[in-house]
Amino acid sequence: MTEPRDSFRMSTVADRSTIPGPRGLEMWRLLLSLRRDPLTTYLGSHAKYGDIIRFHEPTGAPWVFIAHPDMVAHIHQRNHRNYGRGSLSQPFALFLGDGLLTSERETWSVRRRLMAPHFRADHQDDSVKATRTETSRLLDLWASRADTAFDVCHDLERLTFRIVLSGLFGMDLGAGEDPALRQLTNALTFVSAESFRMYPLPAVVTARRRARFAADIRALDAVVTTAVERRIAEGHDRGDLLDTLIAADLGPRVVRDELLTMLHAGQHTVASSIAFTLYLLSTHQDIQDQVHAELARLGGRPPGPDDLSALPFLHQVFYEVMRLYPPAWGGVREALDDDELGGHPIPAGTPLVFSQYVTHRHPEFWPEANKFEPGRFTEDASKARHRYAYFPFGGGPHLCIGQDMALVELSTVVAMVVQRFRLSLAPGATVKPKALLDLVPANGVPLVLRPRREKP
Ligand code: HEM
Repeated sequence: MTEPRDSFRMSTVADRSTIPGPRGLEMWRLLLSLRRDPLTTYLGSHAKYGDIIRFHEPTGAPWVFIAHPDMVAHIHQRNHRNYGRGSLSQPFALFLGDGLLTSERETWSVRRRLMAPHFRADHQDDSVKATRTETSRLLDLWASRADTAFDVCHDLERLTFRIVLSGLFGMDLGAGEDPALRQLTNALTFVSAESFRMYPLPAVVTARRRARFAADIRALDAVVTTAVERRIAEGHDRGDLLDTLIAADLGPRVVRDELLTMLHAGQHTVASSIAFTLYLLSTHQDIQDQVHAELARLGGRPPGPDDLSALPFLHQVFYEVMRLYPPAWGGVREALDDDELGGHPIPAGTPLVFSQYVTHRHPEFWPEANKFEPGRFTEDASKARHRYAYFPFGGGPHLCIGQDMALVELSTVVAMVVQRFRLSLAPGATVKPKALLDLVPANGVPLVLRPRREKP
């Protein structure tokens, strides 16, 4: 992909008028609608008000929504030093402490350098091994459900949870796995509700939820502490991420924060991208056939790390799935100092919200944006496009550290499923995205899997 073009310039004189956006009753209507359905609300607001929109809360606190790739490039890359994670991400720190997703500046950069080698494209052997083993086990289970409709989402959540645990940390929680996955999901649901809340609620209203959150955190902390103590007792010479964190001698709290951060960042996102891929393949049989034909190169064996580059069409399919259904559907930054965007002044302290879901449908860059069309991602087409018209993994210094791991998981799981089954959507089912912390299928993805008789 190319670097951002400079077509969008920070004008210092051009337009100093206020940023367009809803006022009065329209603002109230949109605030309510944002709570129910931020995807459609931001998409509709982009169509109505344009690439930069000012919203404000009842208290008067404003935030600015941006949709143009140049503006996204500005805060992620060109002027990233002026943009911190901001106060909206603070509730996450209640859960993830000072992990890589929540920390900033020196703490963040030291940890990022420490952990980066484990995520390099040429370091994915453990993840591939874990993915192949876990997927093969799952597909045996799915074979027992062949020809009947069932929702694949919960199994995929558990699959990706096991892969992060075993691929990065060499951990197997056994019977503790389901409760830990539930506690993780509950804790994240709590902090994401806190982060998106626009009106502070009286403490008495949230008391039960806060007590449950505290209990979930205590339970997860106990799981992590036991696993770390066990590894220390066994000696830490496997060379995985857990060993690196223990050996760096940063203290048990740091190991805990990074472990939970990776479990959060690397689990729901990948599960959701696999689910949406299987959904779109099930509703586009011609594309599913093309993927199956490409997999014939493997002669029936699951893909290994060296095979993945030989599956360009499969990659085009993923990229297009993550354009339409970006698992990280939006994010936030906060201006540290005064700045300008699109000719509008941005005072220090302004929260800036961006959304992959909206920019990935920007009509200037994506004709027939709602159509599933993997051909948009040929190498030439991708190179010709603005770098930030498509950013499912973010960009700049905070670019997703797990991008290569995610692509390896995604390719391996989807290839193994398509090698073994023909997928169709359960009769009468409709699949819609829902914006929680990640973008997820609102009511699951019910599929019917038919075992393939022919060799791929
Ligand atoms: C399809 C799967 C994934 C998607 C779409 C995704 C997306 C993203 C995005 C958009 C960011 C940037 C956030 C920002 O700018 O504020 C990010 C950061 C991050 N991701 Fe991922 N991610 C995925 C998989 C993973 C995996 C598998 C892991 C690790 C196991 C992971 C770990 C992280 C971490 C630790 C960060 C913070 C990086 C930093 O700030 O230095 N992600 N991810």
